[in-house]
Amino acid sequence: MNILVVGAGGQIGTELIPHLQSLYGEDNVIAADLKKDVVEKLSEISRSVVLDALDVNAYRELVSKNKIGRIYNLVALLSATGEKNPQLAWDVNMGALINSLELAREFNCSLFTPSSIGAFGHSTPHKNTPQDTIMQPNTIYGVCKVSGELLSDYYYTRFGVDTRSVRFPGIISNGALPGGGTTDYAVEVFYEILKTGHYTCPIPENTYMDMMYMPDALRACTDLMDAPAEKLIHRNSFNVTAMSFNPKELFAAIKKRVPEATFKYEIDPVKDKISASWPDNMDDSCARDEWGWNPQWLLDNMVDDMLTEIGKKVRK
Ligand code: SER
Repeated sequence: MNILVVGAGGQIGTELIPHLQSLYGEDNVIAADLKKDVVEKLSEISRSVVLDALDVNAYRELVSKNKIGRIYNLVALLSATGEKNPQLAWDVNMGALINSLELAREFNCSLFTPSSIGAFGHSTPHKNTPQDTIMQPNTIYGVCKVSGELLSDYYYTRFGVDTRSVRFPGIISNGALPGGGTTDYAVEVFYEILKTGHYTCPIPENTYMDMMYMPDALRACTDLMDAPAEKLIHRNSFNVTAMSFNPKELFAAIKKRVPEATFKYEIDPVKDKISASWPDNMDDSCARDEWGWNPQWLLDNMVDDMLTEIGKKVRK
């Protein structure tokens, strides 16, 4: 089976590509991204092409020519960026999704599209947020995610398209940087502390959000897609989480290992509002029951690994 990753140049895509190659073979994975320079970089590790996912004809040709059987649609403008230009966020996030759904229908592909903690809003229970609950997000990013979940489930029930999805929390990683998200602070802090010894945080110290280390996120992407269909009661989308912490707790864990590190807070009002509207911690028992979700990385081993890996990058 050939697998296409669209929006492959982002935080998740750049690490999903080698993960997919290791599981399904190097020649069976194609990386597509909008930006030429990003594709040049990706071509060092993978078959790669420039693709504007909003151009359905170019997208169709790529899927058809390469006999694609599975699509990972990772195209997205994230939550904080989305608030700067809501119309663009809608066009990009929903445009890439509807094209992916239509091509999955036409070419009988399975389709993974990440949803997010951003699909929830103020009116959702914030503690132990249930799998099936009220979803009234307060950002355009969240509106796209809820619409995307509904549309993906519609394509499954109406056309039988094998659509699957997880609601990712903040993803922490040491490869490509996240961009424009509300959870980005949990990545930025490691670079700043190792480069300058200081970090100024835009999120209030007591705001809890779910988080996950990249190796677990990659396993979520592939374990869900490889799960037997008959086991799935839900499809779009599963709560998944690995840890929940607030900035104060993360910084304490870093300071334990880097005693000279200093932190201060300058709250970004947009990110403050967004983070306050998201769950503190999600209940991911449906993912555990239906396809065996079982994260391996918690706060302490994640912080150890991030400091080691980013330390190597910063010292270069
Ligand atoms: N990491 C994303 C964001 O902060 C949430 O899905 O926008």
